[in-house]
Amino acid sequence: MIAPRVDLMQESQTLAISARAKVLRAEGKDVVGFGAGEPDFDTPAFIKEKAKEAIEKGFTKYTPASGIKELKEAVKEKFLRDNNLAYDIDQIIIGSGAKYLIFEALFSLLEEGNEVIIPVPYWLSYPQMVTACGARSVFVNTASENNFKLTAENLSAAITSRTRILILNSPSNPTGSVYEEAELKKIAKIIVENDIFCISDEIYEKLVYDGVSHVSVASLSEEIKKKTIVINGMSKAYAMTGWRIGYAAGPPEVIKAISKLQSHTTSCPSSISQYAALAALEVPQDEVGAMVSEFEKRRNYMVDKLNSIEGIKCGLPQGTFYCFADISSLFGKSAGGEIINSSLDFSRLLLEHALVAVVPGVVFGDDKFIRFSYAASFSNMKKGLERLESFVRALQ
Ligand SMILES: Cc1ncc(COP(=O)(O)O)c(C=O)c1O
Repeated sequence: MIAPRVDLMQESQTLAISARAKVLRAEGKDVVGFGAGEPDFDTPAFIKEKAKEAIEKGFTKYTPASGIKELKEAVKEKFLRDNNLAYDIDQIIIGSGAKYLIFEALFSLLEEGNEVIIPVPYWLSYPQMVTACGARSVFVNTASENNFKLTAENLSAAITSRTRILILNSPSNPTGSVYEEAELKKIAKIIVENDIFCISDEIYEKLVYDGVSHVSVASLSEEIKKKTIVINGMSKAYAMTGWRIGYAAGPPEVIKAISKLQSHTTSCPSSISQYAALAALEVPQDEVGAMVSEFEKRRNYMVDKLNSIEGIKCGLPQGTFYCFADISSLFGKSAGGEIINSSLDFSRLLLEHALVAVVPGVVFGDDKFIRFSYAASFSNMKKGLERLESFVRALQ
């Protein structure tokens, strides 16, 4: 009865865990959550003020489908300033969140039977979106020793005559890895040589540490720029997840297709949120800097603590607000008589026995790992990680 494109999409495997965490909380249990996919900071006050002003001034109507001109201009400036990317205004579109723009880009480019290359571990929505477009995901494994980054060799080996798109995500959710310019150059060469597209999801661009700088693959040459759709947005850098504003830039014909699609689906992104986003992009980025340095401190604390627990191994992620830790050496051990054989078992038992909620790596395509988000206060992190330590120590 349901169209196969949608019927084949999988429900999130984390649903059972988050539903159980909710039940436990409702029972009054003090569950510590490491699952957050959004900053725990509030949207900066000056952004909220702009939204209020937009409402007062009556900016409450439909806007052009591809977004207001002022915001596109600000995004154009942003690409030039931060990424050394020069786009014309018709190469830029504003959408209702980066997530929807990724879907629209896939939907605009894919035909039935096309293949999309997705490095593993991946953000869980990519393969589901590919399925919804009637295309097929081709998963390419990466190595933790290479910080989970796709190599040009592995990419090359995965390309077939059906390959249409590579999805790149740097900084990466869930691993926190950040691609270096030299690595991106090699990947870009393969993309251009094979005449495929690249969807470059750069939503975590601002959340990088250790003095690392984010490089957009599109900025590496005119050739790769013509094959890349850069996706970015307000959610993570400006703590604006609920405002639903993302933006994309790419070849004019692709942006035009997305705009057409948008005009017949969402009509336009929220007018009020667009004015708020304009304020965020136009002022000096001090609040972003403050948030980033706080995240860096938390990351250091979390990585140290995770590595101090026997049986858990975690590399130092250079971006995002996630740690991706290997717990596979604990497989075969048991808690309360139940044996841990997977990341899902580990997550379920950790919640039952220690009231700590995490995201099992299996949802990102790697069952040996657990994702911990440090978008949580220090006191909560401390409490949760101490509980984790006691849980692991008590495993038999
Ligand atoms: C890798 C990645 N891309 C895109 C998004 C979606 O961002 P938005 O809130 O702009 O839709 C997320 C959100 O979790 C993400 O982790």
